[in-house]
Parts: sequence; structure tokens; C-alpha cells
Amino acid sequence: MAEPRANLQLDGARLWDSIMQMAKIGPGVAGGNNRQTVTDEDADGRALFQRWCEAAGLTMGVDQMGTMFMRREGTDPEALPVYVGSHLDTQPTGGKYDGVLGVLAGLELVRTLNDLEIKTKHPIVVVNWTNEEGTRFAPAMMASGVFAGVHELDFIYARQDAKGLRFGDELKRIGWCGDEPVGARKMKAYFELHIEQGPILEAEGIDIGVVTHGQGLNWLQVTLTGRESHTGSTPMPMRRNAGLGMARITDLVHEIAMSHQPKAVGAIGHVEVYPNSRNIIPGRTVFTIDFRSPDIEVLKDMDARLRAGAEKIAEELKLGIAFEQTGHFDPVTFDEDCVTAVRRAAERLGYSHRNLVSGAGHDACWVNRVAPTCMVMCPCVDGLSHNEAEEITPEWAEKSANVLLHAVVETAEIMA
Ligand code: GLV
Ligand code: MN
Ligand code: MN
Repeated sequence: MAEPRANLQLDGARLWDSIMQMAKIGPGVAGGNNRQTVTDEDADGRALFQRWCEAAGLTMGVDQMGTMFMRREGTDPEALPVYVGSHLDTQPTGGKYDGVLGVLAGLELVRTLNDLEIKTKHPIVVVNWTNEEGTRFAPAMMASGVFAGVHELDFIYARQDAKGLRFGDELKRIGWCGDEPVGARKMKAYFELHIEQGPILEAEGIDIGVVTHGQGLNWLQVTLTGRESHTGSTPMPMRRNAGLGMARITDLVHEIAMSHQPKAVGAIGHVEVYPNSRNIIPGRTVFTIDFRSPDIEVLKDMDARLRAGAEKIAEELKLGIAFEQTGHFDPVTFDEDCVTAVRRAAERLGYSHRNLVSGAGHDACWVNRVAPTCMVMCPCVDGLSHNEAEEITPEWAEKSANVLLHAVVETAEIMA
């Protein structure tokens, strides 16, 4: 297989400029972004990406999940394409780089090959997966999950946001429901560049994370049902306080995750309290639990202990309790050949690198089930992500995108 030369490098300034232009769409309130999935802002971001891709000569396919596939032909049209990408949707208080870096680095990689008139045997397809974040509609990594055969399309179309709007209706409303059956594409390989979203690379002064594994995840939604009553006049023994139950379970989640250090994390992220009035004891609370671990046995243990402990709390406080699992994936081991291609790319370019386990979920975690897959990571300031203050440097973006370029071009078989 022909290797790209070390002096093959993309245009870091152009990549940075594209990231900054995308960040103008769906601005947040503190310098980041609110471009949540299948909103008008998402539609605007998609349209800008489509314009850029078409200007770079790519042809677009859109599947029934709204995922965008932008194709650059190879010299052998029959050869399986190499896919590269991530997501353009953001958290409600998201940063400018989570997901966006991976999609726009894919575009920049193609622009560079065009400028240098470099051909590859295999086509290259740049992907923007729909609803990676899973905030507005759970589960996360929604489109890649359907693509990998993990979720049924009808089940996903019926998922509702907090206002009761259905995912399928919203996808059609913004005009991005394509005709292509989901999961029909076959891939030679899939590469995803992402910011680390953790502190390791920056703390160790290392340029590149070679992602060998992804930790597993278990999302639960819990509903506690008590009784609404007057906060002033209801005697303490007569209360059925769903807010108190939620507080105790919040503590339990933390305690369970702490008992598995350093191999587990757990938190409650989304809470709803009904009726949310200062002088009514909450009659109902609905809240989400996010447990993660690279060890499947730890994930199982946390789930079992949480359910048993929460049921005990509910019984003590005379509350009804119901659990719904809203997301789940087992720990992931990425493809050895793809991992080697990423590591070799970092070495060829002279960048420092180390192996990493991804703490966050990524579309790559699902795609790994149906195609050889690997991820590249770059540092981010203070390891901070899912925060509008999320920050990376142009140099980190450029180096990691160069690693992506090399891994993709080598796998797509650069023509001499
Ligand atoms: C996706 O952003 C996740 O929650 O890991
Ligand atoms: Mn992401
Ligand atoms: Mn994210």
C-alpha cells in the first residue's frame, strides 16, 4: 500500500476559518453554540456544510435519518469508500468544536486533496451524522445507531422531546429527511476525529490521542411519583415528596460511581420537578442517570445497585418508581488495522501520541459494529467540554486533522 509523504499537510488556517464560520450559526449565550438536532439552526448549519461540500466537488446522499454523506470519487468507482466524519449538532450550551472539528476536518482533507490533485483508489465520503448529542431526543448517537442496526427507524421517529414533538416530524419539518435506506452503505473503514473532552493529552503535553477503546454507557430515566400538597400545612410524616426521593437517588448515583474509582462515572443531568412551585411539595420528578465505564461488569453492577437502592428509597418515602433505559452501549474495542493507521500517521508526521480510551460516546462507537473503525483525538483546554467555554488551539486542530488526513489517504490508497 502506498504511503503518503510526511510533507502532505492540509491547510490549518482554512480549517480554523471554517470552524469559526460554522460557530456563527446557532450561537449560544456564552461564546459557544446552541445548534441542537433537527432545529432551524441545525438546518442552517447543514445548508452551509452542503454549500462548502458542493463547492469542493462532492456529491450528496441523505438517508432517512437525515445523515449527510458527501462523496469524492476514487479512481475505482467499485471500491468501497473510506468514510470520515462526526456531527454538527451541539448541546444546548455546547462548544464550537465537539463534533464540528471531525466533520470540517473531513471537508478540509478533501479540499487539500483537490488542491494537490491527489487521487485515491477508494472514494472518500465525509459524513455528518444526525443527533449525536441525544439531548433533545434520546438516545445519543441516534442516526449511527440506526445505521448500525441497533435501533429500529420507527422507534426512533417516535422519540419525543420535552415538548412532546416527535423526532421524525421534526426531521421532515426542517427538510432533511432523505430517501436513502439507513445502513445500506458498506464502508472500507470509518475514521472520526474528535476533541478529547478530557484532560489527559493537555496535561501530558501530547499532540495526538490514538483511541483504542471507548467506555460503555448506561442511560436511565427515572420517574418518581408522590403527592402534591401544601409545603406549609402538610405535617412532615404525611408527605410523599418526590423531590426528596430524587435528592437521595442523586447521592446514591454518586456513591455507586465513587465505589468503582477510577473505572466509573455517574451523574444525574436532566431533572424535571412537577409542578415546580415554591410552596408545593413535588408530586412527581423525572430525571436522567448517566453511568459509564470501560468495564462491562462494572456497568452491570452499577445498574443493579442503582435499581435496588432506588426502589428501597422509594419504598421508604412512599413513592412510586419507574425506570426506562434510554441509552446503552457496551464498551468498544476499535479495529486494530485502523488504530495502526492512525498511530503510523502520527509517527510519520513527527507528532507525539499516546493510546486513549474515549470517555464520551461517539458515532464511531456504533459504526465500529459494521465497519473497521478508529478515532483520533486532540487535546482540549482543561479537558472542558459540553460547556460553551470549550476551547482548543488552531495548532491542535491542524495536527490532529493532518493525522486524520494521513490515516484516511493511506487507507483509501493514494495513487502515486
Ligand atoms: C455524547 O456527547 C456523550 O454523551 O458522550
Ligand atoms: Mn461529540
Ligand atoms: Mn457532545
